[in-house]
Amino acid sequence: MRIILLGPPGAGKGTQAKRIADKYDVPAISAGDLFRARIKDPGDPLGKELKEILDSGALVPNEITVKMISDRLDQDDCKNGFILDGFPRSVEQAESLQKMLKEKGIELDAVVQIGVDDDKLVERISGRFSCGECGEGYHDKFKQPHDPSTCDKCGAVDKFTRRSDDNEETVRDRLHTYHTQTAPILPFYEERGMLKTVDGMADMDDVTRQIEAVLKAEKGPNAHNSPKKFG
Ligand code: AP5
Ligand code: MG
Repeated sequence: MRIILLGPPGAGKGTQAKRIADKYDVPAISAGDLFRARIKDPGDPLGKELKEILDSGALVPNEITVKMISDRLDQDDCKNGFILDGFPRSVEQAESLQKMLKEKGIELDAVVQIGVDDDKLVERISGRFSCGECGEGYHDKFKQPHDPSTCDKCGAVDKFTRRSDDNEETVRDRLHTYHTQTAPILPFYEERGMLKTVDGMADMDDVTRQIEAVLKAEKGPNAHNSPKKFG
């Protein structure tokens, strides 16, 4: 199982990547999470630069991002597959990924777009929080923990955190970055017959079912469907 999950900020890429990863026993690789891990490390010289970029809603330069993903894909746990969440995010990155996978002798099974309208995304992002211990994601309205201070998954108490780029201004900038730089990769994958689209406006379980149906129906890189238009 080697797939890419595409979609605007707040579409549910991280939520669905974790679910599919658990089911197929492959790692979910989030470019944003890899950057945030480096920001968290006080000894990492790149951390400060990355934090400024993430808080501005812009993309991290390709030379940093592409190498980081390439190194991650070389790790042992990716041997049987992976789910890429948030990479690629530009046509240049998509081209780098094609080249990188060819060199590594890897073929993608599917590229899945999670389509969500823009007005829904701000609500999704502004209500999001996660467990600082295990990373489990929650939402003020759509997925509350059973006990407001305790993580359902790992039991950590008072460890919930919110991302510093989840404020309204940065969300608008992230959406602009998505529409101008990331959305152009949809035709890139559509032309190659790899793009599948699921309706991310549905509830979380329904979206998971739609992705699983795509993965089951996938007959190879030439299978084709047209992307639904969102936003
Ligand atoms: P990244 O961390 O990838 O952020 P993003 O793309 O903005 O996406 P999010 O993580 O905000 O949303 P998501 O789609 O994962 O949604 P989630 O599942 O959490 O990137 C951050 C930054 O890193 C970028 O801005 C950039 O600076 C940099 N970066 C990353 N990749 C890069 C790259 N390739 N190149 C250069 N720079 C890069 O869901 C959101 C909320 O909604 C949650 O609370 C969830 O519980 C809820 N939810 C999810 N699904 C549903 C549903 N179906 N119904 C109701 N609620 C739902
Ligand atoms: Mg995410």
